[in-house]
Amino acid sequence: MKYITVALAKGRLADFAVGIFREIGFDCSEMDGDSRKLIFTDKGNKFKFIMVKAADVPVYVEYGVADVGIVGKDTLLEEGRNLYEMLDLGFGKCVMAVAGRAESVKLSNTNNIRVATKYPNIAKNYFHAVKGQTIEIIKLNGSVELAPLIGLSEVIVDIVESGRTLKDNGLCVLEEICPISARLVINRISMKLEKDRIASLVNKISKHIKGK
Ligand code: PRP
Repeated sequence: MKYITVALAKGRLADFAVGIFREIGFDCSEMDGDSRKLIFTDKGNKFKFIMVKAADVPVYVEYGVADVGIVGKDTLLEEGRNLYEMLDLGFGKCVMAVAGRAESVKLSNTNNIRVATKYPNIAKNYFHAVKGQTIEIIKLNGSVELAPLIGLSEVIVDIVESGRTLKDNGLCVLEEICPISARLVINRISMKLEKDRIASLVNKISKHIKGK
């Protein structure tokens, strides 16, 4: 029997994702401790788990080197990959938002503002396609909240979870773009070739999250 490979996003979703597999009966003992291994195997169930950067989960799944992935909707929207989004897992909940100083609320509706973000495609789609504004996007890789504080941009587009990072930096949500949570995604070919095992996995995860 072929191994089914699951790509898990490192970072804030990792513990939840591993927790789900553990609770539905997978052997995740290789993931215990502080090993720097990147591939973990459950020989009994013939499953492999790979730990990758969140933005790379959709890439591994689209190319079929991972059959299944768990990743945030923010990453899926940003990457726009061709894969099946099977389940909303209901954890990792946050909001994609435009944020800035409270007094920038009018600015967020003005053309030619600068928008700093880790999510250029989401920001472009929201300002250009949804709001019909011409804006300049500045791609950053983290600590995006800094941008309006030091004059790099008027506003940011970022995820807001507790709201603490915004609050501690004197910023607030100006507009909500969409809700975000973790999703289970499946490769299109695996969906056909491994139909029964994928269906059984989706069923178990679905029952597990409904029971929570
Ligand atoms: C994310 C996000 C915000 C923060 C929101 O950053 O980009 O900065 O978390 O969370 P909060 O509303 O609970 O404060 P992350 O921690 O992933 O780090 P980064 O800024 O380096 O990307």
